[in-house]
Amino acid sequence: MACLVSVLVEALESLQKQGQKMIPIGTENFDFLEKGPIVPPQITQRSSKNRIQHPSPEIGHSEKLQTIGSIPESTQTFTSKRGHWENLRERVLGNEDLKKHVRPGKNLVFGVGDLDAEIFFCGEAPGADEEIQGIPFVGRAGQLLTKIITAMDLSREKVYIGNIMNWRPEMDSETGNRPPTQEEMQFCLPYLIEQVEIVQPKVIVALGATAVSGLLGADKSRRMSAVRGRWHEFCGIPLMITFHPSYLLRNGTNTMKRVVWEDMLQVMERVGLPISVKQRQYFLEK
Ligand code: URA
Repeated sequence: MACLVSVLVEALESLQKQGQKMIPIGTENFDFLEKGPIVPPQITQRSSKNRIQHPSPEIGHSEKLQTIGSIPESTQTFTSKRGHWENLRERVLGNEDLKKHVRPGKNLVFGVGDLDAEIFFCGEAPGADEEIQGIPFVGRAGQLLTKIITAMDLSREKVYIGNIMNWRPEMDSETGNRPPTQEEMQFCLPYLIEQVEIVQPKVIVALGATAVSGLLGADKSRRMSAVRGRWHEFCGIPLMITFHPSYLLRNGTNTMKRVVWEDMLQVMERVGLPISVKQRQYFLEK
């Protein structure tokens, strides 16, 4: 619940920034608001008591979401991170409603990595290579992400890598990708939040504008140039926003590489990773 509240807060703040002063709310919400401010709990090891509520069509999601499928809930209490993660993974990968969005012979994609990782990289959606292998970030952009992780003196096994969406957004053609819609991302977000709850990273890194919209809500006035390289928050966890590796593939100048690298230096500092003089100078003009 805490996460979904923080997502709601971000969405309301962005509406406020766009100049919106009021939003319509139902009378039942007045009763709730009259109770005064509540302090949202931070994420702790998930128990059946602090389980995040999955968004359901009754709480304002459009009818379109119902056509995507239904979200399976677990009523189990978990004694280990691994047990919880495997249960969640099975709930996603075994979900017939989600499988309907995957082309024959292709796969749903679920997060990978260390369940105790300090850094959680979050992309938008699988692409062609990812849906073939069922693993996030294994195509060209993924290989670049792996290089970035290696430059941080880490490995894919020591971080967690996930996407907001669990399937490659459907298109008529076999080639090319389209960004996931806000609704598709909203639908998958609870699965991502549950992964964050399990891993409890020190930092989340949002890769690219679409992932940012998925995590923080859509905001037409949001500019990557203004939000990247700064600390935000998602579910009470520090969130660093940076460019997507595929953007770097298209604009791979040293200046742009340095921009992303500076974001990663901030992440390394935040989690207390050692940073060598050499690392500090990557992509600086000699
Ligand atoms: N882009 C993403 O956002 N995620 C992937 O897994 C691959 C490419």
